[in-house]
Amino acid sequence: MDSFVIEGGKRLEGSIRVHGSKNAALPLMAAALLSDQPVTLRDVPDLADIRNMLKLLAELGCERQNEPGPNGSVGGTVVLRSEDESRIHARYDIVRTMRASICALGPMLARRGRARVSMPGGCAIGDRPVDLHLRGLRALGAQITLEGGDIVASAPAGGRLRGDTIFLGGPFGSTVLGTANVMSAATLAEGTTIIESAACEPEVVDLANFLNRMGAKITGAGSPRITIRGVDRLGGADHAVIPDRIEAGTFMCAAAITNGSLTIENCPVDALLAVVDRLEHAGVHLETMDGSDPFHATCRVTADRVLKPIEITTQPHPGFPTDLQAQFMALLCLADGNSIITERIFPERFLHVAELGRMGAHLFRAGPTVVVSGVKRLTGAPVMASDLRASAGLVLAGLAAEGTTVVNRVYHLDRGYERLEERLAPLGARIKRVPESA
Ligand code: EPU
Repeated sequence: MDSFVIEGGKRLEGSIRVHGSKNAALPLMAAALLSDQPVTLRDVPDLADIRNMLKLLAELGCERQNEPGPNGSVGGTVVLRSEDESRIHARYDIVRTMRASICALGPMLARRGRARVSMPGGCAIGDRPVDLHLRGLRALGAQITLEGGDIVASAPAGGRLRGDTIFLGGPFGSTVLGTANVMSAATLAEGTTIIESAACEPEVVDLANFLNRMGAKITGAGSPRITIRGVDRLGGADHAVIPDRIEAGTFMCAAAITNGSLTIENCPVDALLAVVDRLEHAGVHLETMDGSDPFHATCRVTADRVLKPIEITTQPHPGFPTDLQAQFMALLCLADGNSIITERIFPERFLHVAELGRMGAHLFRAGPTVVVSGVKRLTGAPVMASDLRASAGLVLAGLAAEGTTVVNRVYHLDRGYERLEERLAPLGARIKRVPESA
């Protein structure tokens, strides 16, 4: 397993471009199962999860139609077409490598009338149940059982789901992929579906826009109430994936934690208002260039002094995203005073806490809350995290720490950030990948 070796303490300066969003691309790719026509997705990031999704779709008879990019890249433009609609089993072997495989359930059930998807297990950030996905699909008339660890779903007699009004709220708010699953399935249902307490995340809006291009009739995406009028069939579509708001937020933190100055291009500032608000409270300067499209803006982030402590509570969008909690914790380790971070989406998502402690951070956890007592410096250390965003937090800490930090098992990071080391090095970061065999 590869590691990153980081010599910290270098100020980052220069320009960096945000890539397409992983969490938008995965359900978009799964939506290709809803049609027998080719769909084209642009700006797909070159990531391990995308590779896994391509593998899963191929097993389900939905093949990539264009050649992959140079050097084996799976990203860029991806053309998908469902050619063999008889295959319906998303096997455990793939699902265990990528929880987002659950995205295939709704589209497959709606189009093929049946689906068998291995039940995703818990993961490093918590239990992560799928009860809300199943509740939504049952409301559309699906029969669902659990057989041998697989979710086995079938549409009512006649093979078509039927619209209904569905409440998708749970104890931790709505569900992003659950909303994606139910919304996708409802596009081909008979009649109208209303999803109440739908997730409002930008990735859900991107999916709705794509489905509408395919011929669906969806209104209200981005609000808690989404209405879907079912249609008989969906066609092909051509769509550019939105930029990754979490990658953009991570780059903002990279500028701030190194007292640097980064120009972030293709930055979805409009999807990051809670993040911008917190950074500004901490004393980071953000400037969006005049005339920029707020979803593809050019944004300069500068931090030239010790940051002020802040409070952060993760919430569903448009609140502060859980996927940036670890990165902000790294940042606040170096603020001048006590910050408080409360995790309201995944209350166990704190794998980075003990590792940051190994770098000299002062952190006190009580349940879903961590008090971050700012220190003057972090010191490099070997660290490891078994979660994507926790790893990103450790890389940020390593960029600011004195001495050498080795972040082990960066395959977690590679799931969500494309060649991060190659993109940070030209900005002044001393970071290199050390392959497992070295
Ligand atoms: N939940 C339930 N029942 C369900 C589904 C979810 O109780 O059936 C709970 C979860 O346990 C959690 C909360 O609801 O407490 C929200 O979970 P959600 O379903 O929204 O998460 P998800 O859709 O599985 C996506 C992202 C995550 C991101 C969350 C929250 C993808 C592929 N994953 O997961 O991204 O943290 O939304 O915003 O889109 C990441 O990129 O590192 C990542 C983990």
